[in-house]
Amino acid sequence: MDLFEYQARDLFEAHGVPVLAGAVAYTPEEARSAALKIGGKVVVKAQVKVGGRGKAGGVKLAEDSNDAFTKAGAILGMDIKGHLVRRVMIAQAAPIAEEYYVSILLDRGNRCYLAMASTAGGVEIEQVAVETPDLLAMVPIDPLVGINLEIAKSIVAQAKFPAEISDAVAHVFVALWEVFTSEDATLVEVNPLVKTEDGQIIALDGKVSLDDNAEFRHPAHAELVDIGDIDPLEQLAKEKNLNYVKLDGQVGIIGNGAGLVMSTLDVVAYAGEKFGGIRPANFLDIGGGASAQVMADGLAIILGDPAVKSVLVNVFGGITACDAVAEGIVQALDILGDSATKPLVVRLDGNNVVEGRRILSEARNPLIEQVETMDGAAERAAELAAR
Ligand SMILES: Nc1ncnc2c1ncn2[C@@H]1O[C@H](COP(=O)(O)OP(=O)(O)OP(=O)(O)O)[C@@H](O)[C@H]1O
Ligand SMILES: [Mg+2]
Repeated sequence: MDLFEYQARDLFEAHGVPVLAGAVAYTPEEARSAALKIGGKVVVKAQVKVGGRGKAGGVKLAEDSNDAFTKAGAILGMDIKGHLVRRVMIAQAAPIAEEYYVSILLDRGNRCYLAMASTAGGVEIEQVAVETPDLLAMVPIDPLVGINLEIAKSIVAQAKFPAEISDAVAHVFVALWEVFTSEDATLVEVNPLVKTEDGQIIALDGKVSLDDNAEFRHPAHAELVDIGDIDPLEQLAKEKNLNYVKLDGQVGIIGNGAGLVMSTLDVVAYAGEKFGGIRPANFLDIGGGASAQVMADGLAIILGDPAVKSVLVNVFGGITACDAVAEGIVQALDILGDSATKPLVVRLDGNNVVEGRRILSEARNPLIEQVETMDGAAERAAELAAR
């Protein structure tokens, strides 16, 4: 999960990274009172999870709280590279003398962490990396050692920071490492890290990506999720602990095992070409032990998608045998009752397939249609969706 700048700022503050006063605002009125509280000149900054906000006109200096009201009014509702600005951050304005760049990230390719630092910050760092790579120090970090003060000083030295601020920047690195590890981040980036006219070192912008796999360790991170940004069906699926991804087609897909579901998406997309470009409506892997309740939860989500015209259930019985899955489908349709209205093509194979198919046949549910092969089932589901 990527965080908004104001959320990154709050994490920075909590771990001792030097930041300025800042507050989030959803309306021009809130922006005015935040500016009043901070006092003096402020910067109004669009909060969107995309880079280059400044260039797009999403970062504006305001002389006072009334000006913050006006600037927030102009920035709220802006579209920045396809992202609607729903909130702004009101930040205390800093008298900037120099702008630098520092970051720590997970370097999957080299199986370690990477610290980066440059005295050419503020501008696009990708450009610095390409045009003047000498100005960007890239230092691999041993995960077992991390960034202590000594290593931090070495990174700062390799990036040739001026001597008078080396210690301060090194301390920022140690604090950023603390953010990185204790919050389970995969990226912590500050661009710009600034030196103010009176010589202070401050993080003026922050980008943090958190590792979703570590979510269970951080109940507090749940509050950082931007609900408005998540597809409502995906949100519902998450609450039910289902592996669901919304796609933009018409055939709802349920399968057991991520590999099987991925190939089901392929065969449906392929079969759908014959019917005017019918495509899969979602990815849903109900996993190994698919109980009737899990099947019902999955079906409920898929049937709740207005774009879905037909459903393909593709199950290969293993530890959970086909008869258990068949029972699950029948019970799921019972649980759903009248809310289940779309045709269901079921392909069962594997452990106890004969018994599974018998259970489905005997249920005589008019919504269920069985097809023995995966290709055949995909074609039938696409055909039904095209009607
Ligand atoms: N609090 C502040 N006080 C003074 N100037 C600021 C402040 N925040 C940002 N700026 C100026 O605005 C520039 C752009 O701000 P910032 O880095 O936050 O956005 P950005 O780089 O355009 O967006 P992104 O980082 O998403 O690409 C900074 O380089 C800095 O010069
Ligand atoms: Mg920036």
